[in-house]
Amino acid sequence: MVDLKGQYLHIAGEVNEAIQSVIDNTAFINGPAVKEFAGALADYTGAGYVIPCGNGTDALQLAMMALNLQPGDEVIVPSFTYVATVEVIALLGLKPIFVDSDPETFNLDISAIRKLINKKTKAVVPVHLFGQCADMDSLLSLADEFGLHIIEDTAQALGAEYISSDGTRKKAGTIGTIGTTSFFPSKNLGCYGDGGAIFTNDESLATTLRAMANHGQFKKYHHDLIGVNSRLDTIQAAILNVKLKQLDTYAANRNKAAEMYDKALAGVEGIEIPHREEKSTHVFHQYTLKVKNNKRDELRGFLKERGIPSMIYYPVPLHLQKAYKAYGYKKGDYPVAERLSEEVLSLPMHTELEENQITYITEQIKSFFNA
Ligand SMILES: Cc1ncc(COP(=O)(O)O)c(C=O)c1O
Repeated sequence: MVDLKGQYLHIAGEVNEAIQSVIDNTAFINGPAVKEFAGALADYTGAGYVIPCGNGTDALQLAMMALNLQPGDEVIVPSFTYVATVEVIALLGLKPIFVDSDPETFNLDISAIRKLINKKTKAVVPVHLFGQCADMDSLLSLADEFGLHIIEDTAQALGAEYISSDGTRKKAGTIGTIGTTSFFPSKNLGCYGDGGAIFTNDESLATTLRAMANHGQFKKYHHDLIGVNSRLDTIQAAILNVKLKQLDTYAANRNKAAEMYDKALAGVEGIEIPHREEKSTHVFHQYTLKVKNNKRDELRGFLKERGIPSMIYYPVPLHLQKAYKAYGYKKGDYPVAERLSEEVLSLPMHTELEENQITYITEQIKSFFNA
């Protein structure tokens, strides 16, 4: 599904040098590369403040802690997404209120949100799924109307741009109250271990977030807040400093691959290629097909036999996961999320895909459908 080794080989000299320089000066925690990376990522995204942290899950947790969400507060979150988004809600004693998905974009269904809002609702977490932004204009106007926080989970969409109705362009993660992202190795900007970051334009939130990620201290050994230990390792920051310079090229490579897939697969009966949103650029964290007529698993097996990997992101929507049973959701509550979990199939998507590989993959898919 990814080719991290191939990607590394293009930048090996620079990466090795960056790692060696961290080892040479032994500032493994909060070394100069961390600050340098936070600055470079702020410049790249246009975010007022960037707070590096341990991983994308911590970033979400820290966002909710810094917004002072209290046990019992309700947070609206899509059911069709990765578990991290809801996990931290549950851990903080907040209540996840699931929302169904848009069947075309895979992002949360904005039209279903209003009826879920009540006095306890404090925040909405749009996840910019698979690399394309959720409808932020509509979310911002809902947030304004009801006084809600918007936490953008940008783990899969770093670098994507949202184009507002007034034509302004902003990077995913910098539009809501707080944005979060992950540098998990297979992410569009991946490090060589765990890593994450938080974005905000609010200076006082940034100050709180920075302290909370470091045991709640503004001054060493003076703990004014309850915090956590969530830091980006200096070695990871040094690697990310090298890779951030490549991020737009990586996105372009992914888009080139997506266009080849699109061209070969458009019109093949039995599958739907990914929908492109007008108001967002796409960074193709995943290239996800919808496979109709209950053929998804059969197609997956067929591809596997021919040496082609594929993945199901995600096979069980969050409202039906065992761990979240106590919230009382049941089958049928979110029909689109449930249908998507039966239809989606993600194809290999990374920066090193070659034309002949895509041709082979798409030829096999077409042969499955006799197209
Ligand atoms: C949408 C989404 N949110 C959050 C995360 C969590 O990030 P991490 O693995 O860095 O904790 C991920 C990916 O892993 C993700 O895909």
